[in-house]
Amino acid sequence: MKRLIDKLHQEQMLTAEEFHRLLANRSEETDQYARELANQVRQEVYGNKIYVRGLIEFTNYCKNDCYYCGIRRSNQNAQRYRLTEEDILECCRQGYELGFRTFVLQGGEDGFFTDDRIVQIVRKIKEQYPDCALTLSIGEKSEESYRAYREAGADRYLLRHETADPRHYMRLHPLEMSGENRKSCLRILKKLGYQTGAGFMVGSPLQTVDDLVEDFLFLKELDPEMVGIGPFIAHQDTPFCNERSGTLDDTLFYLALLRLMLPNVLLPATTALGTIHPRGREMGVLSGANVVMPNLSPVSVRKKYMLYDGKICTGDEAAECRMCLSRRMERIGCEVVTDRGDYKKRLA
Ligand code: SAM
Ligand code: FES
Repeated sequence: MKRLIDKLHQEQMLTAEEFHRLLANRSEETDQYARELANQVRQEVYGNKIYVRGLIEFTNYCKNDCYYCGIRRSNQNAQRYRLTEEDILECCRQGYELGFRTFVLQGGEDGFFTDDRIVQIVRKIKEQYPDCALTLSIGEKSEESYRAYREAGADRYLLRHETADPRHYMRLHPLEMSGENRKSCLRILKKLGYQTGAGFMVGSPLQTVDDLVEDFLFLKELDPEMVGIGPFIAHQDTPFCNERSGTLDDTLFYLALLRLMLPNVLLPATTALGTIHPRGREMGVLSGANVVMPNLSPVSVRKKYMLYDGKICTGDEAAECRMCLSRRMERIGCEVVTDRGDYKKRLA
């Protein structure tokens, strides 16, 4: 297996059959080998710098009904909220003071936020903070909508593909949704010049090795600037309430493989990873991740953006989260930097 890991490192690609072998024949030793190699590649490309993104969860209304998600429209127990434009700008103001130079506006697919409203918010943020990057993560939209946001100044877009296999996609989503549309959105986003982020949940219900192979092949083909992966974690008010969570070891191994396959990719150590293990994010970085995304949402709404049970950092002020992460990164020899943290095209 080490040979396959070396090949992925050198050639940044494996065949489907090779990926299958690598994913189906894991051992502690090869996992460790991949993670150490990926950590080295992260250092070669990004040094000891860790990029930070201020996450603003601005609405938990959603028209979709993904079976895994705590803010799905059928969850009657979710307390719905929307931030106002003023609230969002206040989050940015606080974030800017704390050294954030990227803001991520994330939310459910909420019809209240029409294209005009999103465009206006994007414009205002970019006017007030011209030295910051703005990332949107608001789901599947039309090409016209994506174009309008881009022209208003949005720089990046996060849209996990969730799973590249159409049958697996159907098991995670109601019939009205399609994995093909999601992939098509990702291609459009790239075409429009967004730094684009795809990704999947680790250990989502019914995920097979074949599904994962497809995920890796799809990501290689798409060649996104960012990849978001994190463990699936059950939410008590969803159809998947009794399903097991994705594991730490699997998440770390896949992070490592992603770093080897896409050496320059912006790769977050996610909050979900920090939720399944107290040092999950640190271990994520030591396995190749180079981004952390602390929460900038007002504390009053944090607990309402509950995608899964047990989500960490829902009681902390933005400043506490920022400090906490800086300390955590320092302890592993890394430094959280005040920087837009754009994608690097070449080795440093
Ligand atoms: N609506 C936007 C979208 O669909 O891309 C952004 C919000 S959505 C809640 C953000 C991500 O949360 C999803 O892409 C999904 O991978 C992740 N997520 C949702 N439920 C989860 C769960 N139970 N465990 C782990 N991750 C989850
Ligand atoms: Fe939020 Fe640690 S990252 S409290």
